[in-house]
Amino acid sequence: MKIKKVVWITGGGTGIGKELAKLFSYKDYTVIISGRRLEKLSETSRYNPKKIIPMKLDVSNPKDCLRVSKKIYNRYGFIDLIILNAAIYSPGSIKEINTNEIKKVVDVNLLGQINCLSFALEKMKDSSKGHIIFISSPAGYRGLPGAGMYGVTKSAITFLAETSRLEFSKFNIKVQVVHPGFVKTPMTDKNQFKMPFLMSPEEAAKRIFNKLQSNDFEIFFPKRLIYPMKLLSILPDKIYFFLIKNLVKVSG
Ligand SMILES: NC(=O)c1ccc[n+]([C@@H]2O[C@H](COP(=O)([O-])OP(=O)(O)OC[C@H]3O[C@@H](n4cnc5c(N)ncnc54)[C@H](OP(=O)(O)O)[C@@H]3O)[C@@H](O)[C@H]2O)c1
Repeated sequence: MKIKKVVWITGGGTGIGKELAKLFSYKDYTVIISGRRLEKLSETSRYNPKKIIPMKLDVSNPKDCLRVSKKIYNRYGFIDLIILNAAIYSPGSIKEINTNEIKKVVDVNLLGQINCLSFALEKMKDSSKGHIIFISSPAGYRGLPGAGMYGVTKSAITFLAETSRLEFSKFNIKVQVVHPGFVKTPMTDKNQFKMPFLMSPEEAAKRIFNKLQSNDFEIFFPKRLIYPMKLLSILPDKIYFFLIKNLVKVSG
């Protein structure tokens, strides 16, 4: 069978990554999914075993990322699209987080995306085509009490995506960033608070998929959550800090 398109989704064993993998596999893509738990990857693969290929990987390990990147290129020859989705959630007050925890979150959420991207990026530049999607979060729009190091890393990812968009267009590489609202996944199942406009991972994956062909930089949803957040993020500091202090209460 001739392979038409190849997508690599990091963190494809659960949540949004899993639903994206299913969707892409029904649409002519060979889908490589990676993550640390092989049993979760296998569960995703079972939806479409010929099209969804699991590859065990810890994104915080650069050597592991290089090994898997080379394996994909050796087997398929190209990657059309890389979706940098793997992340861990570490919300809470900054003062409660120790440096070991900070290092762990940065290693996965920020360096992990870069580790997975670096080899593919060189290949994309060489072939003058490619598509990169960074999964970030609106938690990184502006300083937010309780967003912890998770918010810090997501802010950095959005910055990285913006810079990449600007720098890689000359290589004909399209860069998009995704800012999802609350999506029901193992990540958010930990949240104790009521999540406004909570969406299913299937719906989130569809929203992302439907925007692939567009030239929009930012893919965001749902509008009724993200528009107010965008509005807050452009307010002058004094008003922003006043409103957020009164709107968001964090214990500790
Ligand atoms: N759910 C939401 O409301 C929401 C909102 C905004 C943004 N996001 C973003 O959406 C993306 C997907 O999150 P999700 O909600 O679908 O959560 P999820 O189900 O917990 O998915 C995260 C995936 O990342 C993988 N992962 C974590 N650490 C890894 C590591 N060191 N190496 C390789 N893979 C690793 C996990 O697999 P293993 O544990 O098996 O490695 C898991 O499959 C994340 O970037 C998240 O920040 C989610």
